[in-house]
Amino acid sequence: MASMRSSSSSMALALLPLLVAAAFFIPSLLASSASRTLDDHGLDGEALLMLGRFHGWMAAHGRSYATEEEKLRRFEVYRSNMAFIEAANRDSRMSYRLGETPFTDLTHDEFMAMYGGNNGDPTSEKEEMMMITTRAGPVHEGGGVHGGDLHQLAAVDEEEPPRRANLTALLPPSVDWRAEGVVTPVGFNAWCSSCWAFVAAATIESAKAISTGDPPPVLSEQQLVDCDTLDKGCGGGWMDRAFKWVIQNGGITSAAAYPYTDKNGTCQEGKPAEATLSSYKLLPRGDEEAIMEAVARQPVAVAFDHNDPCFQHYIDGVYDAGCSISGVYTKGACKTAQNHALALVGYGTKPDGTKYWIGKNSWSAKWGENGFVYVLRDSPPLGLCGLAVRPSFPII
Ligand SMILES: *[C@@H]1O[C@H](CO)[C@@H](O)[C@H](O)[C@H]1NC(C)=O
Ligand SMILES: *[C@@H]1O[C@H](CO)[C@@H](O)[C@H](O)[C@H]1NC(C)=O
Repeated sequence: MASMRSSSSSMALALLPLLVAAAFFIPSLLASSASRTLDDHGLDGEALLMLGRFHGWMAAHGRSYATEEEKLRRFEVYRSNMAFIEAANRDSRMSYRLGETPFTDLTHDEFMAMYGGNNGDPTSEKEEMMMITTRAGPVHEGGGVHGGDLHQLAAVDEEEPPRRANLTALLPPSVDWRAEGVVTPVGFNAWCSSCWAFVAAATIESAKAISTGDPPPVLSEQQLVDCDTLDKGCGGGWMDRAFKWVIQNGGITSAAAYPYTDKNGTCQEGKPAEATLSSYKLLPRGDEEAIMEAVARQPVAVAFDHNDPCFQHYIDGVYDAGCSISGVYTKGACKTAQNHALALVGYGTKPDGTKYWIGKNSWSAKWGENGFVYVLRDSPPLGLCGLAVRPSFPII
């Protein structure tokens, strides 16, 4: 009890300068923004409370603003997002929870403009899809998968037994490559739409660790952004094209040798290869069982549509694209555009029977469940938000 009391009084002390600052901050801003929403309410308790929370959020995410006008504008967006988040969390139809993320000060339009991968229409990519090397053969024709050690699973040879009647029954009921120590920490693509480079690198890192038994290397997303001429750097890209470029280039270097700068840069030549690929594989469109078999062997790259205001604020639970906006609940808020990417590092089933994928995102460990997202699995015809449109994986 004593320690609780002292911590709450020290908290009050810590808040005091904040409240004093707020008392000066808000009126000075109001003077320059007569039509803003704070105008009517003045310094009411709710505004002060929210301002305290906003400052807490700014500190937690290392955010600062160049001008007071910008700070006021971001505070208003933050308040509006927090109202949205709290209302959605009260809706019992939501299967997952929303909360503060690195994006709580962005409107959904701003968020999409900054974090959309702009991969474009996958149907225009048909020719590209025919050019895939196929050393591994069609995914259903892989070797026997009988559960047990995942490293052994991944090492299974490429003999081609006849297609099995029920593949799912033969696969492990759950897989989590994080528990095998082959998944590197979650990165942050920040202002550059390089999610595709993060996911390509993540799947190569895990593939190499699984094939060698060594810890995963940390590979260079920036080399893909700057040097992969098959893709468009901060303008977007495809993971399968990135694999193709890595093969053409004779490998991908380490993040230490070629660190992330979060912007388009000039390609630095002559970096040593840290991982090489012999091939890569594009999985059949709309076949989540094929993805499941592939994920049982190694993490798989998928693109999907993240144009859903709830996804921006996701913190935990199984995301099913049901989104509550002003009390109106929409099932399937996303479509199937390929504007963001995830590395699928596992799958499983919750005790209530909900099937999920485990996605590694590139929005830092402060978004989602330590940077990961659980996404509804088995959502025909194209997977939730189109995640089964163009799945692929690299082959070491
Ligand atoms: C395949 O096996 C899974 C797991 O045992 C089962 O849930 C599913 O219903 C089976 N599917 C078919 C088509 O038999
Ligand atoms: C980066 O370069 C690509 C073309 O290579 C372009 O499409 C994109 O708009 C550029 N992005 C930025 C943020 O400069």
